[in-house]
Amino acid sequence: MISAIELSSDIGLVAVGLLTTNILLGLLVSIGYNPTRRWPRRRFKLFTFHNWTGYIALATATLHPVVLLFSAAAGFRIVDVLAPITSPSQPLVNTLGAGGFYLVAFVVLTSYFRHAFGFHRWKQLHYTTYAAASAFFIHGLLTDPELKNRPVNWIDAEKVFVEVCMLLVASGTIWRVIHGRRRRHAP
Ligand code: HEM
Repeated sequence: MISAIELSSDIGLVAVGLLTTNILLGLLVSIGYNPTRRWPRRRFKLFTFHNWTGYIALATATLHPVVLLFSAAAGFRIVDVLAPITSPSQPLVNTLGAGGFYLVAFVVLTSYFRHAFGFHRWKQLHYTTYAAASAFFIHGLLTDPELKNRPVNWIDAEKVFVEVCMLLVASGTIWRVIHGRRRRHAP
């Protein structure tokens, strides 16, 4: 049977996949990509998908550390999940994960109430996504999924998954910046 630590690790990986999808969809929304006129040439509400992947990712990222509370081997208490600075293993790396989580929660909440901020202020707040992504990517790469403080195995399948997600977000962001600049300089 799968242990709570393994389950938590799998849920963490799903959260990374969902947040990556969410960021890539957000980048497409920001350039006004039209899936009806271009690929996949179907009516497809990008904005709705972007919102829902955000909500589901936040729920998944919440579940990931909560599952650890059900493992006697992990030895995590509620305080170690809320503020992992004194958590049993890799406290610094876990604190980075918690930071990523709080930042994702901030982005989702401010987006839900975006009308209260006005577009310009909300957009500025929304850039917090990049800080959140940096935190959860580093956390996902540096944690030992067995909680044994082992050095990172960079070619382990789970770590390769996180590396690919990080690469996708980095390339999407660079592409977005170049695309935005070209549009601004267009005659
Ligand atoms: C309160 C917040 C968090 C805490 C306390 C925490 C804690 C941990 C711990 C103890 C591990 C190692 C054991 C395990 O694999 O379960 C871990 C791994 C991991 N976490 Fe988190 N985490 C938090 C937030 C996040 C967030 C927001 C994400 C991503 C969206 C994330 C993604 C991952 C990934 C991908 C792994 C590694 C899985 C692997 O290599 O197999 N975590 N986390």
